[in-house]
Amino acid sequence: YVQGNDKGSTSAGAESRLLQYFYQFLPRSSPPSLPGPTSLFLVGNMMELTHDHLPIHLTNLAQRYGSIYRLKCGNTTMVVLNSSEVIREALVKKWSDFAGRPISYTGNIVSGGGHTISLGDYNEEWRAHRRLVHSALQRCCQKSLHSVIERQALKLRKVLMDYRGSAVDLSEDFTVAASNVITTLAFGEEYDKSSSELQQLHSCLNEIVALWGSSWISALDSFPLLRKLPNPVFDRLLKEVARRDEIIRRHLNDYKSQEQRNEDAITESLLQGIEKQDNTEHGALLTDVHVHMATVDLLIGGTETAAAWLNWTVAFLLHRPEVQTRVYEELCTVLEGRYPKYSDRHRLPVLCSLINEVLRLRPVAPLAVPHRAIRDSSIAGYFIPKNTVIIPNLFGAHHDPAVYPDPYSFKPERFLKGGGGSTRALIPFGGGARLCLGESVAKMELFLFTAYLLRDFQFVPAESKASLPDLRGVASVVLKVKSYEVVARPRPVTNP
Ligand code: HEM
Repeated sequence: YVQGNDKGSTSAGAESRLLQYFYQFLPRSSPPSLPGPTSLFLVGNMMELTHDHLPIHLTNLAQRYGSIYRLKCGNTTMVVLNSSEVIREALVKKWSDFAGRPISYTGNIVSGGGHTISLGDYNEEWRAHRRLVHSALQRCCQKSLHSVIERQALKLRKVLMDYRGSAVDLSEDFTVAASNVITTLAFGEEYDKSSSELQQLHSCLNEIVALWGSSWISALDSFPLLRKLPNPVFDRLLKEVARRDEIIRRHLNDYKSQEQRNEDAITESLLQGIEKQDNTEHGALLTDVHVHMATVDLLIGGTETAAAWLNWTVAFLLHRPEVQTRVYEELCTVLEGRYPKYSDRHRLPVLCSLINEVLRLRPVAPLAVPHRAIRDSSIAGYFIPKNTVIIPNLFGAHHDPAVYPDPYSFKPERFLKGGGGSTRALIPFGGGARLCLGESVAKMELFLFTAYLLRDFQFVPAESKASLPDLRGVASVVLKVKSYEVVARPRPVTNP
């Protein structure tokens, strides 16, 4: 029954009830308990969780304990899912059992009391919020996403041309390009790298993501007593959250006070949506706070992710220049000199295989965002009690040797016809009720930015082989490549 007949989320609750029902008649063979490393009383598996490359460490533990295991931290039990099959079972098939988010002390601070979409728990207010932002994003993307990305890709091209072949670190330029896509969609505004407004916003969003991912902060969630001790890292987090809110408030106020507001901007749709909503018996479900926090979601979710991915792509291409040549040749043959459209993607399999392989090897949100079981349920036949924290280890799923032979090697060709690479097992955007809200924005961005860049530039290492980027990466909430320098050499054909 467990494996065969569970057709969806509504039957998932029934399944766990059934499991519990049967178990009560089987006193000597109690429910299989989840495997996992032994944990120290009180501290639990804290050491496991403070590893400096957590996704790799959790993936290594899967070799010992299997595709699902548990870790304990303080009084929290976490279940780590390490294969695409078990992740899909939880996030897609049983989405309504696992759509919650853990409610945490620090998460509440970062999300303005749980009012962001990404960290808000699953309830009526959250559903209305996500629906509102989703439809605003859809409306805006249908109207202008393609042209917004094209414009930023051309701006990025100009920036790279102006470097005139000198060795540079492109990470900031990628961040500006990705961020401008979001700020144009959100407010109809874009910035230059030198803009102090942009620099302020990024430095504070970056700081928040980095500080929140640090063990100094996560320890406060598991060990409440630590909150009584002085913690300079936590003080910095509070300061950055206040700074972020001030910048976003200023932006929204400026937007509202414009004489001619941009009708296509997401902010406009959000504000109109709030005005039009039907009031519940407790008044309006969504308020200006939700517009504010949705802006935070879009800026954080949409900037560092796409920028980190572009940085990884260039880094991998420096290690395998022949892949770059193959993509370039495909672009020249198929496009005959013109710039690509997103609709060209079906005719550009080599480029798409590169995009898939970088998403596989370096899913930029390697552990997604933790989920919470909102009722008793089960995964892979194991009983999962309500409130268990679920960690979808996307990095682990993408490195499963049963699905991807030689999983740690960069081989885009595995995604070409006959290469055997499964696109079904790729889940870089998560799935189900919590599927990345910006998936369609991200997919178009990755495609167009990469196609524009590889059509016009050849990326070569800064000096010798010794300066090839380190591909291990730095894992926090976002998995980033260590900074490196590269030369973007203009292609002679497209730039006579
Ligand atoms: C959530 C990946 C770009 C907005 C997520 C999650 C992942 C993810 C894995 C967590 C899913 C879960 O909890 O199971 C990525 C990747 C991106 C990307 C790989 C690019 C390469 C974007 C962009 C935006 C965005 C461009 C905004 C325009 C969000 C939001 C959430 C989210 C708002 C929270 C969804 C929720 O909790 O319901 N993303 N993302 N992301 N992402 Fe993305």
